[in-house]
Amino acid sequence: MQIRKLNRNEIPPIELLLLADPSRILVEEYLKRGECYIAERNNKIMGVYILLPTKKDTIELINIAVFEHEQGKGVGKQLIMDAIQRSTVNGYKTIEVGTGNSSIGQLALYQKCGFRITSVDRDFFVRNYEEVIFENGIWCRDMIRLSQDLE
Ligand code: COA
Repeated sequence: MQIRKLNRNEIPPIELLLLADPSRILVEEYLKRGECYIAERNNKIMGVYILLPTKKDTIELINIAVFEHEQGKGVGKQLIMDAIQRSTVNGYKTIEVGTGNSSIGQLALYQKCGFRITSVDRDFFVRNYEEVIFENGIWCRDMIRLSQDLE
C-alpha cells in the first residue's frame, strides 16, 4: 500500500470523503483549502484524508475514511500515522482532529495513535447539521476535539 498526495489534476474520491462527512459543501470547501492524500494498492484507492492548516503551527486532520470492505485491517491507523509524520516533517507543532461523541471506534483509534482530548464543542452537530445523527445507539451532538504535540 502506498500513501501519496493527490495531484491537482486528479479527481478526488468524493464518495469516500463523504463517508467521513455527509456534507458535500463542506467536503468541497476542505478540498479547496487543504491537501488530499490517498492510500492505494494496485492503483485502487483504499483510503483518504485531508490535512488543513488552521492557525499558526497547527494543522487539522479531517475527512479520514477507508472503504467499508477495507476497514478494520489497519489502513486507517496507517493513514493517521502518515498524517502525523507529514505534519511533523512540514514543521507543524500541533495536529488536531475532531469527532462526534458517538464515534466510539474513531475515539479509540485517535487515542491509540497518540491524540488526547482537549475540549468538547457542545451541540456542534445540532448547530451545524440539519439531520439528527445517531450512531452506536448514541445521539451525536457534541464534537470531541483531540490534539497531539509534534516534535
Ligand atoms: N473500541 C476500541 N477500539 C476500537 C473500536 C472500539 N469500539 N473500534 C475500532 N477500534 C480500534 C481497533 O481496535 C483498531 O485498533 P488496533 O489496531 O489497536 O486493533 C483501530 O481502532 C481501527 O484501526 P484500523 O483498522 O486502522 O481502522 P480502519 O481502517 O477501519 O479506519 C476509519 C478507521 C474511522 C477511518 C474507518 O472506520 C472509516 O472510514 N469510517 C467511516 C468514516 C469516518 O467515520 N471517518 C472519521 C470521521 S471523524
